[in-house]
Amino acid sequence: MRLIVVDNYEEMSKKAASIMASQIILKPESILGLATGSTPLGMYKELIKMYNDGEVDFSQVRTFNLDEYYGIRRDNEQSYYYYMDNNFFKYINVKEDNINIPNGTAEDVEQECINYDKRIKESGGIDIQVLGIGVNGHIGFNEPDVNFEAQTHLVKLDKKTIESNARFFNSIEEVPVKAVSMGMKTIMNSKKIILLANGINKADAIEKTMKGKISPEVPASILQLHNDVTIIVDKAAASKL
Ligand code: F6R
Repeated sequence: MRLIVVDNYEEMSKKAASIMASQIILKPESILGLATGSTPLGMYKELIKMYNDGEVDFSQVRTFNLDEYYGIRRDNEQSYYYYMDNNFFKYINVKEDNINIPNGTAEDVEQECINYDKRIKESGGIDIQVLGIGVNGHIGFNEPDVNFEAQTHLVKLDKKTIESNARFFNSIEEVPVKAVSMGMKTIMNSKKIILLANGINKADAIEKTMKGKISPEVPASILQLHNDVTIIVDKAAASKL
């Protein structure tokens, strides 16, 4: 695991955007694995700036998002589809047909999960996957558990995740309790991974991810087994290392 410690959120976002842009410059038809949440927002802003300045072109990339809430329609403002469109996709020249986000309202969710993994595989696999990390060490919505789920699957969200994500909703009761998420194998199959974290509330999870024992109790710890992971953290998130 490579560790990059930066001063603040802005620097973390810039570093992550530069890595993503380099990937796309080197391979314009890259397959990008993308995340939602607060952490990558700054990275998306930087990438939009780079696009506007003519530094990066998204016309050939294909994207796969990590997860989507279950039971929430795409046009709902809380959906990750809506988030991606409003924070990134509508500002760049990615082709709509090249965007993949699990469908949280698929009639047959099990089949949707199988198809999602199949689409990733058929694309040639994810070249670079961006990850945030939950305070409980989750990546995607792979919550701490006694087992790892390998493939894309329906997950019951952890109490901590629901509490943490309540900040985006009017009340905690509105937070969906389930989500469709890439599994650990799907994530681990990515050729490169960058994990971003900022703030003191992520310090514990970062320490366990990098220094703890590899265990499904801290899902991100399995990244120790991947051979191309870069962790970019601000000083606060690195404070327990
Ligand atoms: C989002 C995702 C989650 C978040 C994590 C951190 O697509 O898969 O694992 O990355 O919950 O969320 P933030 O960035 O809001 O702290």
